[in-house]
Amino acid sequence: MKTNAKIEFGDFQTPLALAKEVCSLLVQQRVNANAVLEPTCGVGTFLVAAAEVFPKARLLGCDINSEYVMQTTAALAAAGAAKRASVGKQDFFAHDWEAGLADIRGSLLVLGNLPWVTNATVSGMNGSNLPTKENFQGFRGIEARTGKSNFDISEWMLIRLVKALRGRSATIAMLCKTGTARKLLRFAWQNDGRIASASLYRIDAKKHFGASVDACLLFATTGEAGPAEAKVFDGLFAKRASTTLGLAGQDLVHDIRTYRRLKHLEGLCPYQWRSGVKHDCASIMELRRTDGKALQNKLGEHVRIEPDHLFPLLKCSDLANGRIEPERFVVVPQRRVGENTSVIAKTAPRTWRYLDSHRKLFEGRKSSIYSSRVPFALFGIGDYSFAPWKVAVSGLHRTPRFALVGPVDEKPVLFDDTCYFLPFEDKQEARVVAEILNSRECRDFLASLTFTDSKRPITVQLLQRLNIRALAEDAGLADEWAASRNRGVHHSEEPISMQAEFVMERPTK
Ligand SMILES: C[S@@+](CC[C@H](N)C(=O)[O-])C[C@H]1O[C@@H](n2cnc3c(N)ncnc32)[C@H](O)[C@@H]1O
Repeated sequence: MKTNAKIEFGDFQTPLALAKEVCSLLVQQRVNANAVLEPTCGVGTFLVAAAEVFPKARLLGCDINSEYVMQTTAALAAAGAAKRASVGKQDFFAHDWEAGLADIRGSLLVLGNLPWVTNATVSGMNGSNLPTKENFQGFRGIEARTGKSNFDISEWMLIRLVKALRGRSATIAMLCKTGTARKLLRFAWQNDGRIASASLYRIDAKKHFGASVDACLLFATTGEAGPAEAKVFDGLFAKRASTTLGLAGQDLVHDIRTYRRLKHLEGLCPYQWRSGVKHDCASIMELRRTDGKALQNKLGEHVRIEPDHLFPLLKCSDLANGRIEPERFVVVPQRRVGENTSVIAKTAPRTWRYLDSHRKLFEGRKSSIYSSRVPFALFGIGDYSFAPWKVAVSGLHRTPRFALVGPVDEKPVLFDDTCYFLPFEDKQEARVVAEILNSRECRDFLASLTFTDSKRPITVQLLQRLNIRALAEDAGLADEWAASRNRGVHHSEEPISMQAEFVMERPTK
């Protein structure tokens, strides 16, 4: 298949060895199948593997690619299973799955590997292999999810299958991205999708498909609603589950058992977490000292600007590795979002000339948040950015490490937008809060909530739900924290209005 079509149709054929491993797991799990359905069968490796372990089962396959349909038919004939096979060309999106599944009698196994592609990729290449708008009655929110936003085609297809299977006892064994499996489960658990049981078995997608994604076998049974929990195994034949993910209220959490044990640590954080400064122009805005003195930008230019607009900068990798002596500086043309930058032309002419000489790079910033803004606009900037003391954490690293960061040469240290922080006027309070956040209890609680394969395991929403008071009590620091808070200004506190929904893992929007 040509590369473009391969991408549009998410065409990564499962190697026979992996299909056989999956099938032996199904046998080990005592799956009973009178019929095996592969809804996007490709060249048929799953059906061939299933033919061997379910010697009496009917083998049903469809694919949009007629060449593949022929190959699967031939492969099943070569495996001696022609008589019990039925393979045809079928567009998944156009099929009436309710009627199709109702025609299949006996215990049903839905097995396979759906296309690995997102709707945005398909649309971006002017492709048409996308779902049509359908009435997903009883599946709240599907319209919104399949509207303009990005989602994995396989997520849509899995939801479609679960909906068509609702109330029917069947087994689902599908390879997919781990994130897709979680989204499917979350969706089904929240929308009466009647998943009786579910487990995830991680697979090595790099080895089997050459794809650098977290992938798994989603193994589920349908028919009635079971507990909203799924064991996660680190390999197809791992003896023990490494964790049990589950639904906690509206949220999917990584380790539901630990979460339940530490649930009392959840609440409203009395401080307002902030994200670091966002500029999307690192080549100009981020500087380093070359020979101890002169500053250089990422283009290799020497930069001489007024010190008023220059602040020490830490990035997520610094925080994650405990490096809190900044080696970088950031140019700061604004002290709050929306502030007029043109005054710099007078107050700091060298800074203005420097920025202005690279105006094109600023104007080329992709994010729409910069359109119709003043030149050299920043986000994530305000009084809080200039507080002397901060407790900061990387948003991108799996294991949170909260750093106490103080001023350098009497200047507050800033962070980039991969970091989150609490600002403090008082060192003592910042120190105690850092200690509370680094306590065992806090780390365990955060670990129970976060999915380590998420691009951004730590988010403001997550941090904002840390009940510092309960954490301080559990960590034996309640008195110290209370004493530190009595010392004076509470720069970082803000009335918190409506609490944002606590979404550990957001469904595709
Ligand atoms: C990831 S491959 C997997 C193939 C096979 N299930 C396997 O495990 O080897 C996805 C398959 O989905 C098929 N496909 C893509 N879009 C489809 C659609 N709209 N309807 C039916 N099949 C489709 C592709 O042709 C491809 O064979």
